[in-house]
Amino acid sequence: MITLGFMSLTRQHEQDFSAELAVRAPEFGIRLIRFTPFDILPDTLRVKALVYHPASSNWNETELAIPDYIYDRCFYGKDSQSQKAKPIVEWLKKYPKTEFIGRGLPDKWTVLQDLQEHSVINPYIPETIKVSRFEQIHSYLSKEKTCILKPVFGAGGRGVILLELGKKNITATYHIGKDKQTKSFSNQASFKTWCKKVLQHQYLIQPYLNIQDKEQYPCDIRLFMQKNVDGEWHTVGKAVRRGNKNGLLANLSGGSDTLTFDTWFENIPKKQQVVLLDDVFSITQSVPYYLDERYGPLFELGLDICLAKDGRIWILDINSKPGRKSILHVSPEKKEHLFTCPLKRCKYLFSLQNQKGVLPRES
Ligand SMILES: Nc1ncnc2c1ncn2[C@@H]1O[C@H](COP(=O)(O)OP(=O)(O)O)[C@@H](O)[C@H]1O
Ligand SMILES: [Mg+2]
Repeated sequence: MITLGFMSLTRQHEQDFSAELAVRAPEFGIRLIRFTPFDILPDTLRVKALVYHPASSNWNETELAIPDYIYDRCFYGKDSQSQKAKPIVEWLKKYPKTEFIGRGLPDKWTVLQDLQEHSVINPYIPETIKVSRFEQIHSYLSKEKTCILKPVFGAGGRGVILLELGKKNITATYHIGKDKQTKSFSNQASFKTWCKKVLQHQYLIQPYLNIQDKEQYPCDIRLFMQKNVDGEWHTVGKAVRRGNKNGLLANLSGGSDTLTFDTWFENIPKKQQVVLLDDVFSITQSVPYYLDERYGPLFELGLDICLAKDGRIWILDINSKPGRKSILHVSPEKKEHLFTCPLKRCKYLFSLQNQKGVLPRES
């Protein structure tokens, strides 16, 4: 039996998802275990793990060799556990007796810079600058009057800030969980002090794209893509995430609703519909292939795109460890596919290894 390890930073993370995989694993000849990078025993190169017991729906403690395949669902933050886990995961990626069923992407800055190099993709990437000094923010804002700051290592909309230069003051808008917060600065000194605090983390600056629909809800489109065994990328599902009225974020963690793509699409002007479909086609035919070549082998991607008020389509964000929530919400019939594809991928990599008679490595 093949062992697939579901790896996350805590044993509670995505428990339901890992259980859905675990119950389906045996029909693919797979035993699914879950573990964290901290569960690896360096002396013996074994791992303390949890194995699913279908009859009782319990996860039972076990100890076994590092699994043959790893499904990496580690989401790193600024916390110390994340920092401790990273070198262990880097080591695991090089460990010859295991294979990740999909690689992750580097930080936003690296990915966006790379995508800007590609002539087809470049027009969809908002101008992005890495900022490290207050003066850069100040001069950008003086010129453009509005901008978005977002962390290089961000996720879930955390740390995303809208800056607006008014006649008398500068306002900063951001979310803490579901709550929208606004800070106002009436003089440059207080704004500078605040920016310096923000810049203790690495940040990017982008133009503020007006992504609100006609009822003032910020929206983005999640394209959930997966690679099949022939190396072709498919759009498994599309969902529109709609944030709070007059809000800034469309992320689910910011309290968004999910709409079907078709419902949302019917409500945009006909002319924009044509452009949008064309652009979605170009994006899905280029971005995953390019990223796969640069950083792969990748397995699945969540591409977040938006339709801005000016009628243009932009790529906002690319996730190499996409969640399934929004797609499951709008397309419940895709459940079986979504909960079996990591298993199919694992089995496919195993068959490749057997064909070659060597270690499983996809070209
Ligand atoms: N340039 C932008 N203009 C307007 N809104 C933006 C911009 N960039 C991000 N956002 C908003 O912030 C949210 C989170 O940004 P994103 O780049 O996806 O980072 P994260 O990794 O935190 O999800 C987006 O879903 C969108 O609602
Ligand atoms: Mg995002």
